[in-house]
Amino acid sequence: MRLTINELQALKNQNIPIPMITAYDYTTARIVEASGIPIILVGDSLGQVVLGYKTTVPVTIEQIIHHTTAVVRGTKKAHIVADMPFMSFQSDLKSAVANAGQILKRSGAQSVKIEGGSHMAKTIKTLVEIGIPVMGHIGLTPQSYNQLSGYKVQGKSLKEASQLIADAISVQEAGAYGVVLELIPSEIAKIITGKLDIPTIGIGSGEYCDGQVQVINDVLGMDSSFQPKHSKRYTDLSSIIGESIKSYGEEVRNGKFPTEIESFSLPKDVYDNLINNIQD
Ligand code: KIV
Repeated sequence: MRLTINELQALKNQNIPIPMITAYDYTTARIVEASGIPIILVGDSLGQVVLGYKTTVPVTIEQIIHHTTAVVRGTKKAHIVADMPFMSFQSDLKSAVANAGQILKRSGAQSVKIEGGSHMAKTIKTLVEIGIPVMGHIGLTPQSYNQLSGYKVQGKSLKEASQLIADAISVQEAGAYGVVLELIPSEIAKIITGKLDIPTIGIGSGEYCDGQVQVINDVLGMDSSFQPKHSKRYTDLSSIIGESIKSYGEEVRNGKFPTEIESFSLPKDVYDNLINNIQD
């Protein structure tokens, strides 16, 4: 049985911090679940870290479904959140419902995540009313990269900070079961976390959130040229993978791989018969 949204709420009620991380494929999802992470996000960050786009804007519903399905196949207990990609929910309620429904039905995820505050409340409410659990996402909303003119900390002025608090309340009132707070000052995240009944999941929003979410590639150090300030490298996988592949390449070139250990042999009688029967 996978973690439910009620169980997630119970974690907040008991003051138990919630670790969440992204995953985009079967093998990684298995490792993440085995490491005890209860909730996995198939974020549209896959556009950047898996598909090599500059932003999340080009990500499609088909790509989200494709990767979410793999993550679902690799897990049994984790709650899987699928990101709704740019323009899959913004234009009108009918297409938001159809697209969220498609994502849940075809991928097997348990909920969807939607970027946007008060202006998305009606969409969140509609989805929740028809039985689709929604995680909100406010602060830096990367799908609005072009409108925001880049990835920047949000809510630094009094007006913006007040708007963020209002957004968080609207998202909760609309029925979201949780909300991601991305790149906002910790003071605002603390106020929001104190005001909301539902769990807040921070990324770059400080220590006072009920949970934290990170992009797995950042945490594993998959990109040696990029380290966001809000992330921490727990290992240097890019070097580890690079060194390992280098050794493999060298061993193939030097004839050191494969050896007998990695090879398979014919039974001796079959081999002898084969040799005797081979025509020159
Ligand atoms: O797409 C993603 O990975 C996200 C997280 C940054 C919260 O939305």
